Amino acid sequence: MVISFEGIDGSGKTTQAKLLVETLTVLNLNPLLVREPGGTAVGERIRELLLDKNLTISTETEILLYAAARAELLQEVIRPAVKAGRLVICDRYIDSSIAYQGYGLEGDLKWIINLNQQLAGKLWPSLTFLLDLPVEQAGQRCSGLRDRIEQREISFHKRVRRGYLELASCDPQRFVILNALWPVKKLQQAIWEEVRQRC
Ligand code: TYD
Repeated sequence: MVISFEGIDGSGKTTQAKLLVETLTVLNLNPLLVREPGGTAVGERIRELLLDKNLTISTETEILLYAAARAELLQEVIRPAVKAGRLVICDRYIDSSIAYQGYGLEGDLKWIINLNQQLAGKLWPSLTFLLDLPVEQAGQRCSGLRDRIEQREISFHKRVRRGYLELASCDPQRFVILNALWPVKKLQQAIWEEVRQRC
């Protein structure tokens, strides 16, 4: 099973993904946490390129670079883990490309979806937590140094948020939308309740 955490930058998804993995580990359920882009030697190098503020990258190249990092992660890490029966928790996955490059950058949605479907095959998440909050409040949370994606204008992040909400409304079985402004503990409990019921 693959569970993913999604949301705009500053939504707190990394914190929640880690907390879920801690809980599953305590219960001896042997989960695996992966992050995107990255999680492999090649993927981490691609991540450096993608987040480098000094580079200008075309939308098509950006789509392909995220997909390349994902292909590597699928091949090296996710597929073997799922084969071994492990529960894989993804801190971002395919929906990030749809929301950021498809909605945010207004890239070719069909192409992004087809490309990623080909890469992932059956390894689509069966449960996705979308941590949702207004862009302005998320921006206040990442007030430090901003990477190439984070530094994009507010209208970009608003399109990303809208994209996520549209994806979630099209697939209510898979998506659980949570209010990212809730306290960490409350979110953690809501997430655990959902995972407990489904796994
Ligand atoms: P993330 O690891 O969430 O950032 P950080 O650890 O710095 O909080 O993700 C890095 C950035 O990459 C983030 O701004 C979202 C973006 N991204 C895409 O645009 N498309 C994708 O397919 C993925 C996986 C991430």
